[in-house]
Amino acid sequence: MIVVSAASGAFGRLVVDRLLEGSPAVRVVAAVRRPDGAADLAARQVDVRHGDYDDPATLRTAFAGADRLLLISSPELDTARRTAQHLAALDAAVAAGVGSVVYTSFLGADTQAEGLTAAHHATERALSTCGLPCTVLRHPFYTEAFVHPGLHAAVDAGELTDGTAGRGLNTALRGDLAEAAARVLTGDGHLGRSYDFTGSLWNHHELARALSRVRGGPVVRRERAGRAPGAQGWLEDQVRAGALERQTDDLRNVLGRPPATLDEAVAAVLARP
Ligand SMILES: NC(=O)c1ccc[n+]([C@@H]2O[C@H](COP(=O)([O-])OP(=O)(O)OC[C@H]3O[C@@H](n4cnc5c(N)ncnc54)[C@H](OP(=O)(O)O)[C@@H]3O)[C@@H](O)[C@H]2O)c1
Repeated sequence: MIVVSAASGAFGRLVVDRLLEGSPAVRVVAAVRRPDGAADLAARQVDVRHGDYDDPATLRTAFAGADRLLLISSPELDTARRTAQHLAALDAAVAAGVGSVVYTSFLGADTQAEGLTAAHHATERALSTCGLPCTVLRHPFYTEAFVHPGLHAAVDAGELTDGTAGRGLNTALRGDLAEAAARVLTGDGHLGRSYDFTGSLWNHHELARALSRVRGGPVVRRERAGRAPGAQGWLEDQVRAGALERQTDDLRNVLGRPPATLDEAVAAVLARP
């Protein structure tokens, strides 16, 4: 039996989809904070259980009987609280006697413990000493953070504006990362391993060219004069600093095929209104 925590989120739902499609004989349990919001999963023969990272007793019950647990990282932004949530989930996994844990970490969390990686770093350290067989899946930024329906406006205007200085990005679609997680959860030979998942490198010059193909006419890329507000500005700062240029073959190897290309990501995202 495979338990997926935070299964009601965008990534968790994709993992459940891939498990149901690829391994129909496997019993899948969705551990969710709000079971009322997961009626669609229950309707698909998924066993929905209450599992709240802030309520350890629910986690022990939710994880009971799991041969494999996919621990999807919490969306909590506060590092101390996020770390406490993950450690509570690990304690619950040990108490429930789960067979093994697969954890969704973030690229760099093995060596860095700042900002975004801090809670992941602490969780990876706890995983290494918890006594359970584990697999760590280090995710890059999702491609969807950059290739999103907002690009319809760039296609309409014939102009793409960004603050990345044209530097490369290693991102991956949630769908490819979900398929990789499902393969690790249902396959052999992954315990005790850590994977650094990245897609193929791309940049915003290539994105403008991909949008031109969608438009059937030119989409011109321009560097933004000022910094974008909020999360987008922060993300673009990371790209401009060259922090997202690392590339590995781990995702390709686990998938057994190349991850989606930029053109495929653009086509998938812009197919939606
Ligand atoms: N690599 C990246 O670019 C990237 C980007 C964003 C996030 N992430 C990380 O990857 C994870 C999955 O991403 P996503 O896109 O699927 O995020 P998402 O759609 O926001 O889903 C987050 C999930 O976490 C659940 N959750 C929130 N608080 C919880 C709690 N106390 N106990 C149990 N579950 C709780 C939410 O449940 P409800 O349905 O009840 O709200 C939801 O199912 C995120 O949680 C975050 O750690 C990665």
